[in-house]
Parts: sequence; structure tokens; C-alpha cells
Amino acid sequence: MDTANLDELKKGAAWGIVDGVTTNPTLIAREGKPIAEQIRAICDIVDGDISAEVVATTHREMVEEGKKLAAIHKNIVIKCPLIREGIIATNELAKEGYRVNVTLCFSAAQALIAAKAGAYIVSPFVGRLDDIGQDGMELIRQIVTIYENYGFQTKVLAASLRTTNHVIDSALAGAQIATMPFKTLDALFSHVLTDKGLETFLADYNKVFKS
Ligand code: E4P
Repeated sequence: MDTANLDELKKGAAWGIVDGVTTNPTLIAREGKPIAEQIRAICDIVDGDISAEVVATTHREMVEEGKKLAAIHKNIVIKCPLIREGIIATNELAKEGYRVNVTLCFSAAQALIAAKAGAYIVSPFVGRLDDIGQDGMELIRQIVTIYENYGFQTKVLAASLRTTNHVIDSALAGAQIATMPFKTLDALFSHVLTDKGLETFLADYNKVFKS
């Protein structure tokens, strides 16, 4: 799930279909609690990879901040932005055995760099590319193909997903992970024929057995 909101996470976790959580500084700020406190609370709700993003902008500070975030819980994945300093930090952290999610990826070239740096995850932002009139899903397809061509182990996490079609298309494209807001996860359940079908099943049954 792509949220730092504990109520949403509890609802999603109760369905038993949430494998992990992605956060970013905007999502953390929205909840109003210091990052360490919020991330710890998230780890108590979801048992899976929890991405926590650094806000430092130099590689030394990113490494330091990343290690502090990783010390919060064993499930933490350190999130670094796809800038030069972020890539140096990713390299360093990966060599020391930390798992890094390289975020703010908007091109296949950037994804290649993230994989070369030893990223555990790369996060291409589909919705934000769509927002500027580009084809976000095409980027997912390109990255999956490039990683397959060269056997990169970096996982493709389709981020900035806003619709159920985004989720299905990233699955079809072969993205290993999809992160989405609660609203989108909830919408995955919906089908008019499911609701109609259940209504008919129950009405038919009740007509005979509950009259
Ligand atoms: C998650 O890793 C990203 O930060 C997030 O998906 C961005 O989504 P947005 O473009 O809807 O803010």
C-alpha cells in the first residue's frame, strides 16, 4: 500500500492481501508524526517490506540517515532518490547489505543506473508521467524488458498508480510489485456482476429456506 495512514493500513492488512508499504516524505508529513515513530507504527501493522525515504541530499547524509531508518525494524527498505548523490548512497548501502528502493524514476536510462548501483527495488512513477502526457505504463514495460535482458535482480515496483487499470497493466507488464493508495486497492474488489450475483443467490436461497 502507498500510504502512511495507519487506519488505511489496518483496513488493508485485515484483508490479508498487503505485502508491504511504500511511504515518501509527503505521505509521512500528511500524518504529522516524526518519521521514526510513524514507520515503527507501520511495521507493527504490516509484516513485509516497508520503504522509508531519506530526506538528506548528500550521499554521506543519505547513508547515515538510511542506516538510522533501517535500524527501526528489520523490514525497512531505505528509499533514496534517483539523483547522483542518491546513486552513490545506494551503491554504498547495497555493498554493506542494506536494501535500497531507488525512487523518483522517470526513464529507462535512470532504471538502468539504479540496477547498476545495486538497488533492491526501483520505483518508476506511472501516474506522474501520465500527468504530463507521457505513457507511464510504457516505462514499466521497458524496464521489465531491460532487466530481463541482462538478468538484473532489481525488482520493478510500479509506483504512482491511480487506477485499477494501472494495477492490471503493471501486472501484465511483469512488474514484481505494485504500490497503490487505499482507494485503488479497495476499487480492485468491485464488479457490478459480483454484487448482482450475490444479491440473486441470497434472494433465491431465502425464498425457499427463509420464508
Ligand atoms: C511511492 O513509492 C511513490 O512515492 C508514490 O507512489 C507516488 O505517488 P503519487 O504520484 O500519487 O504521489
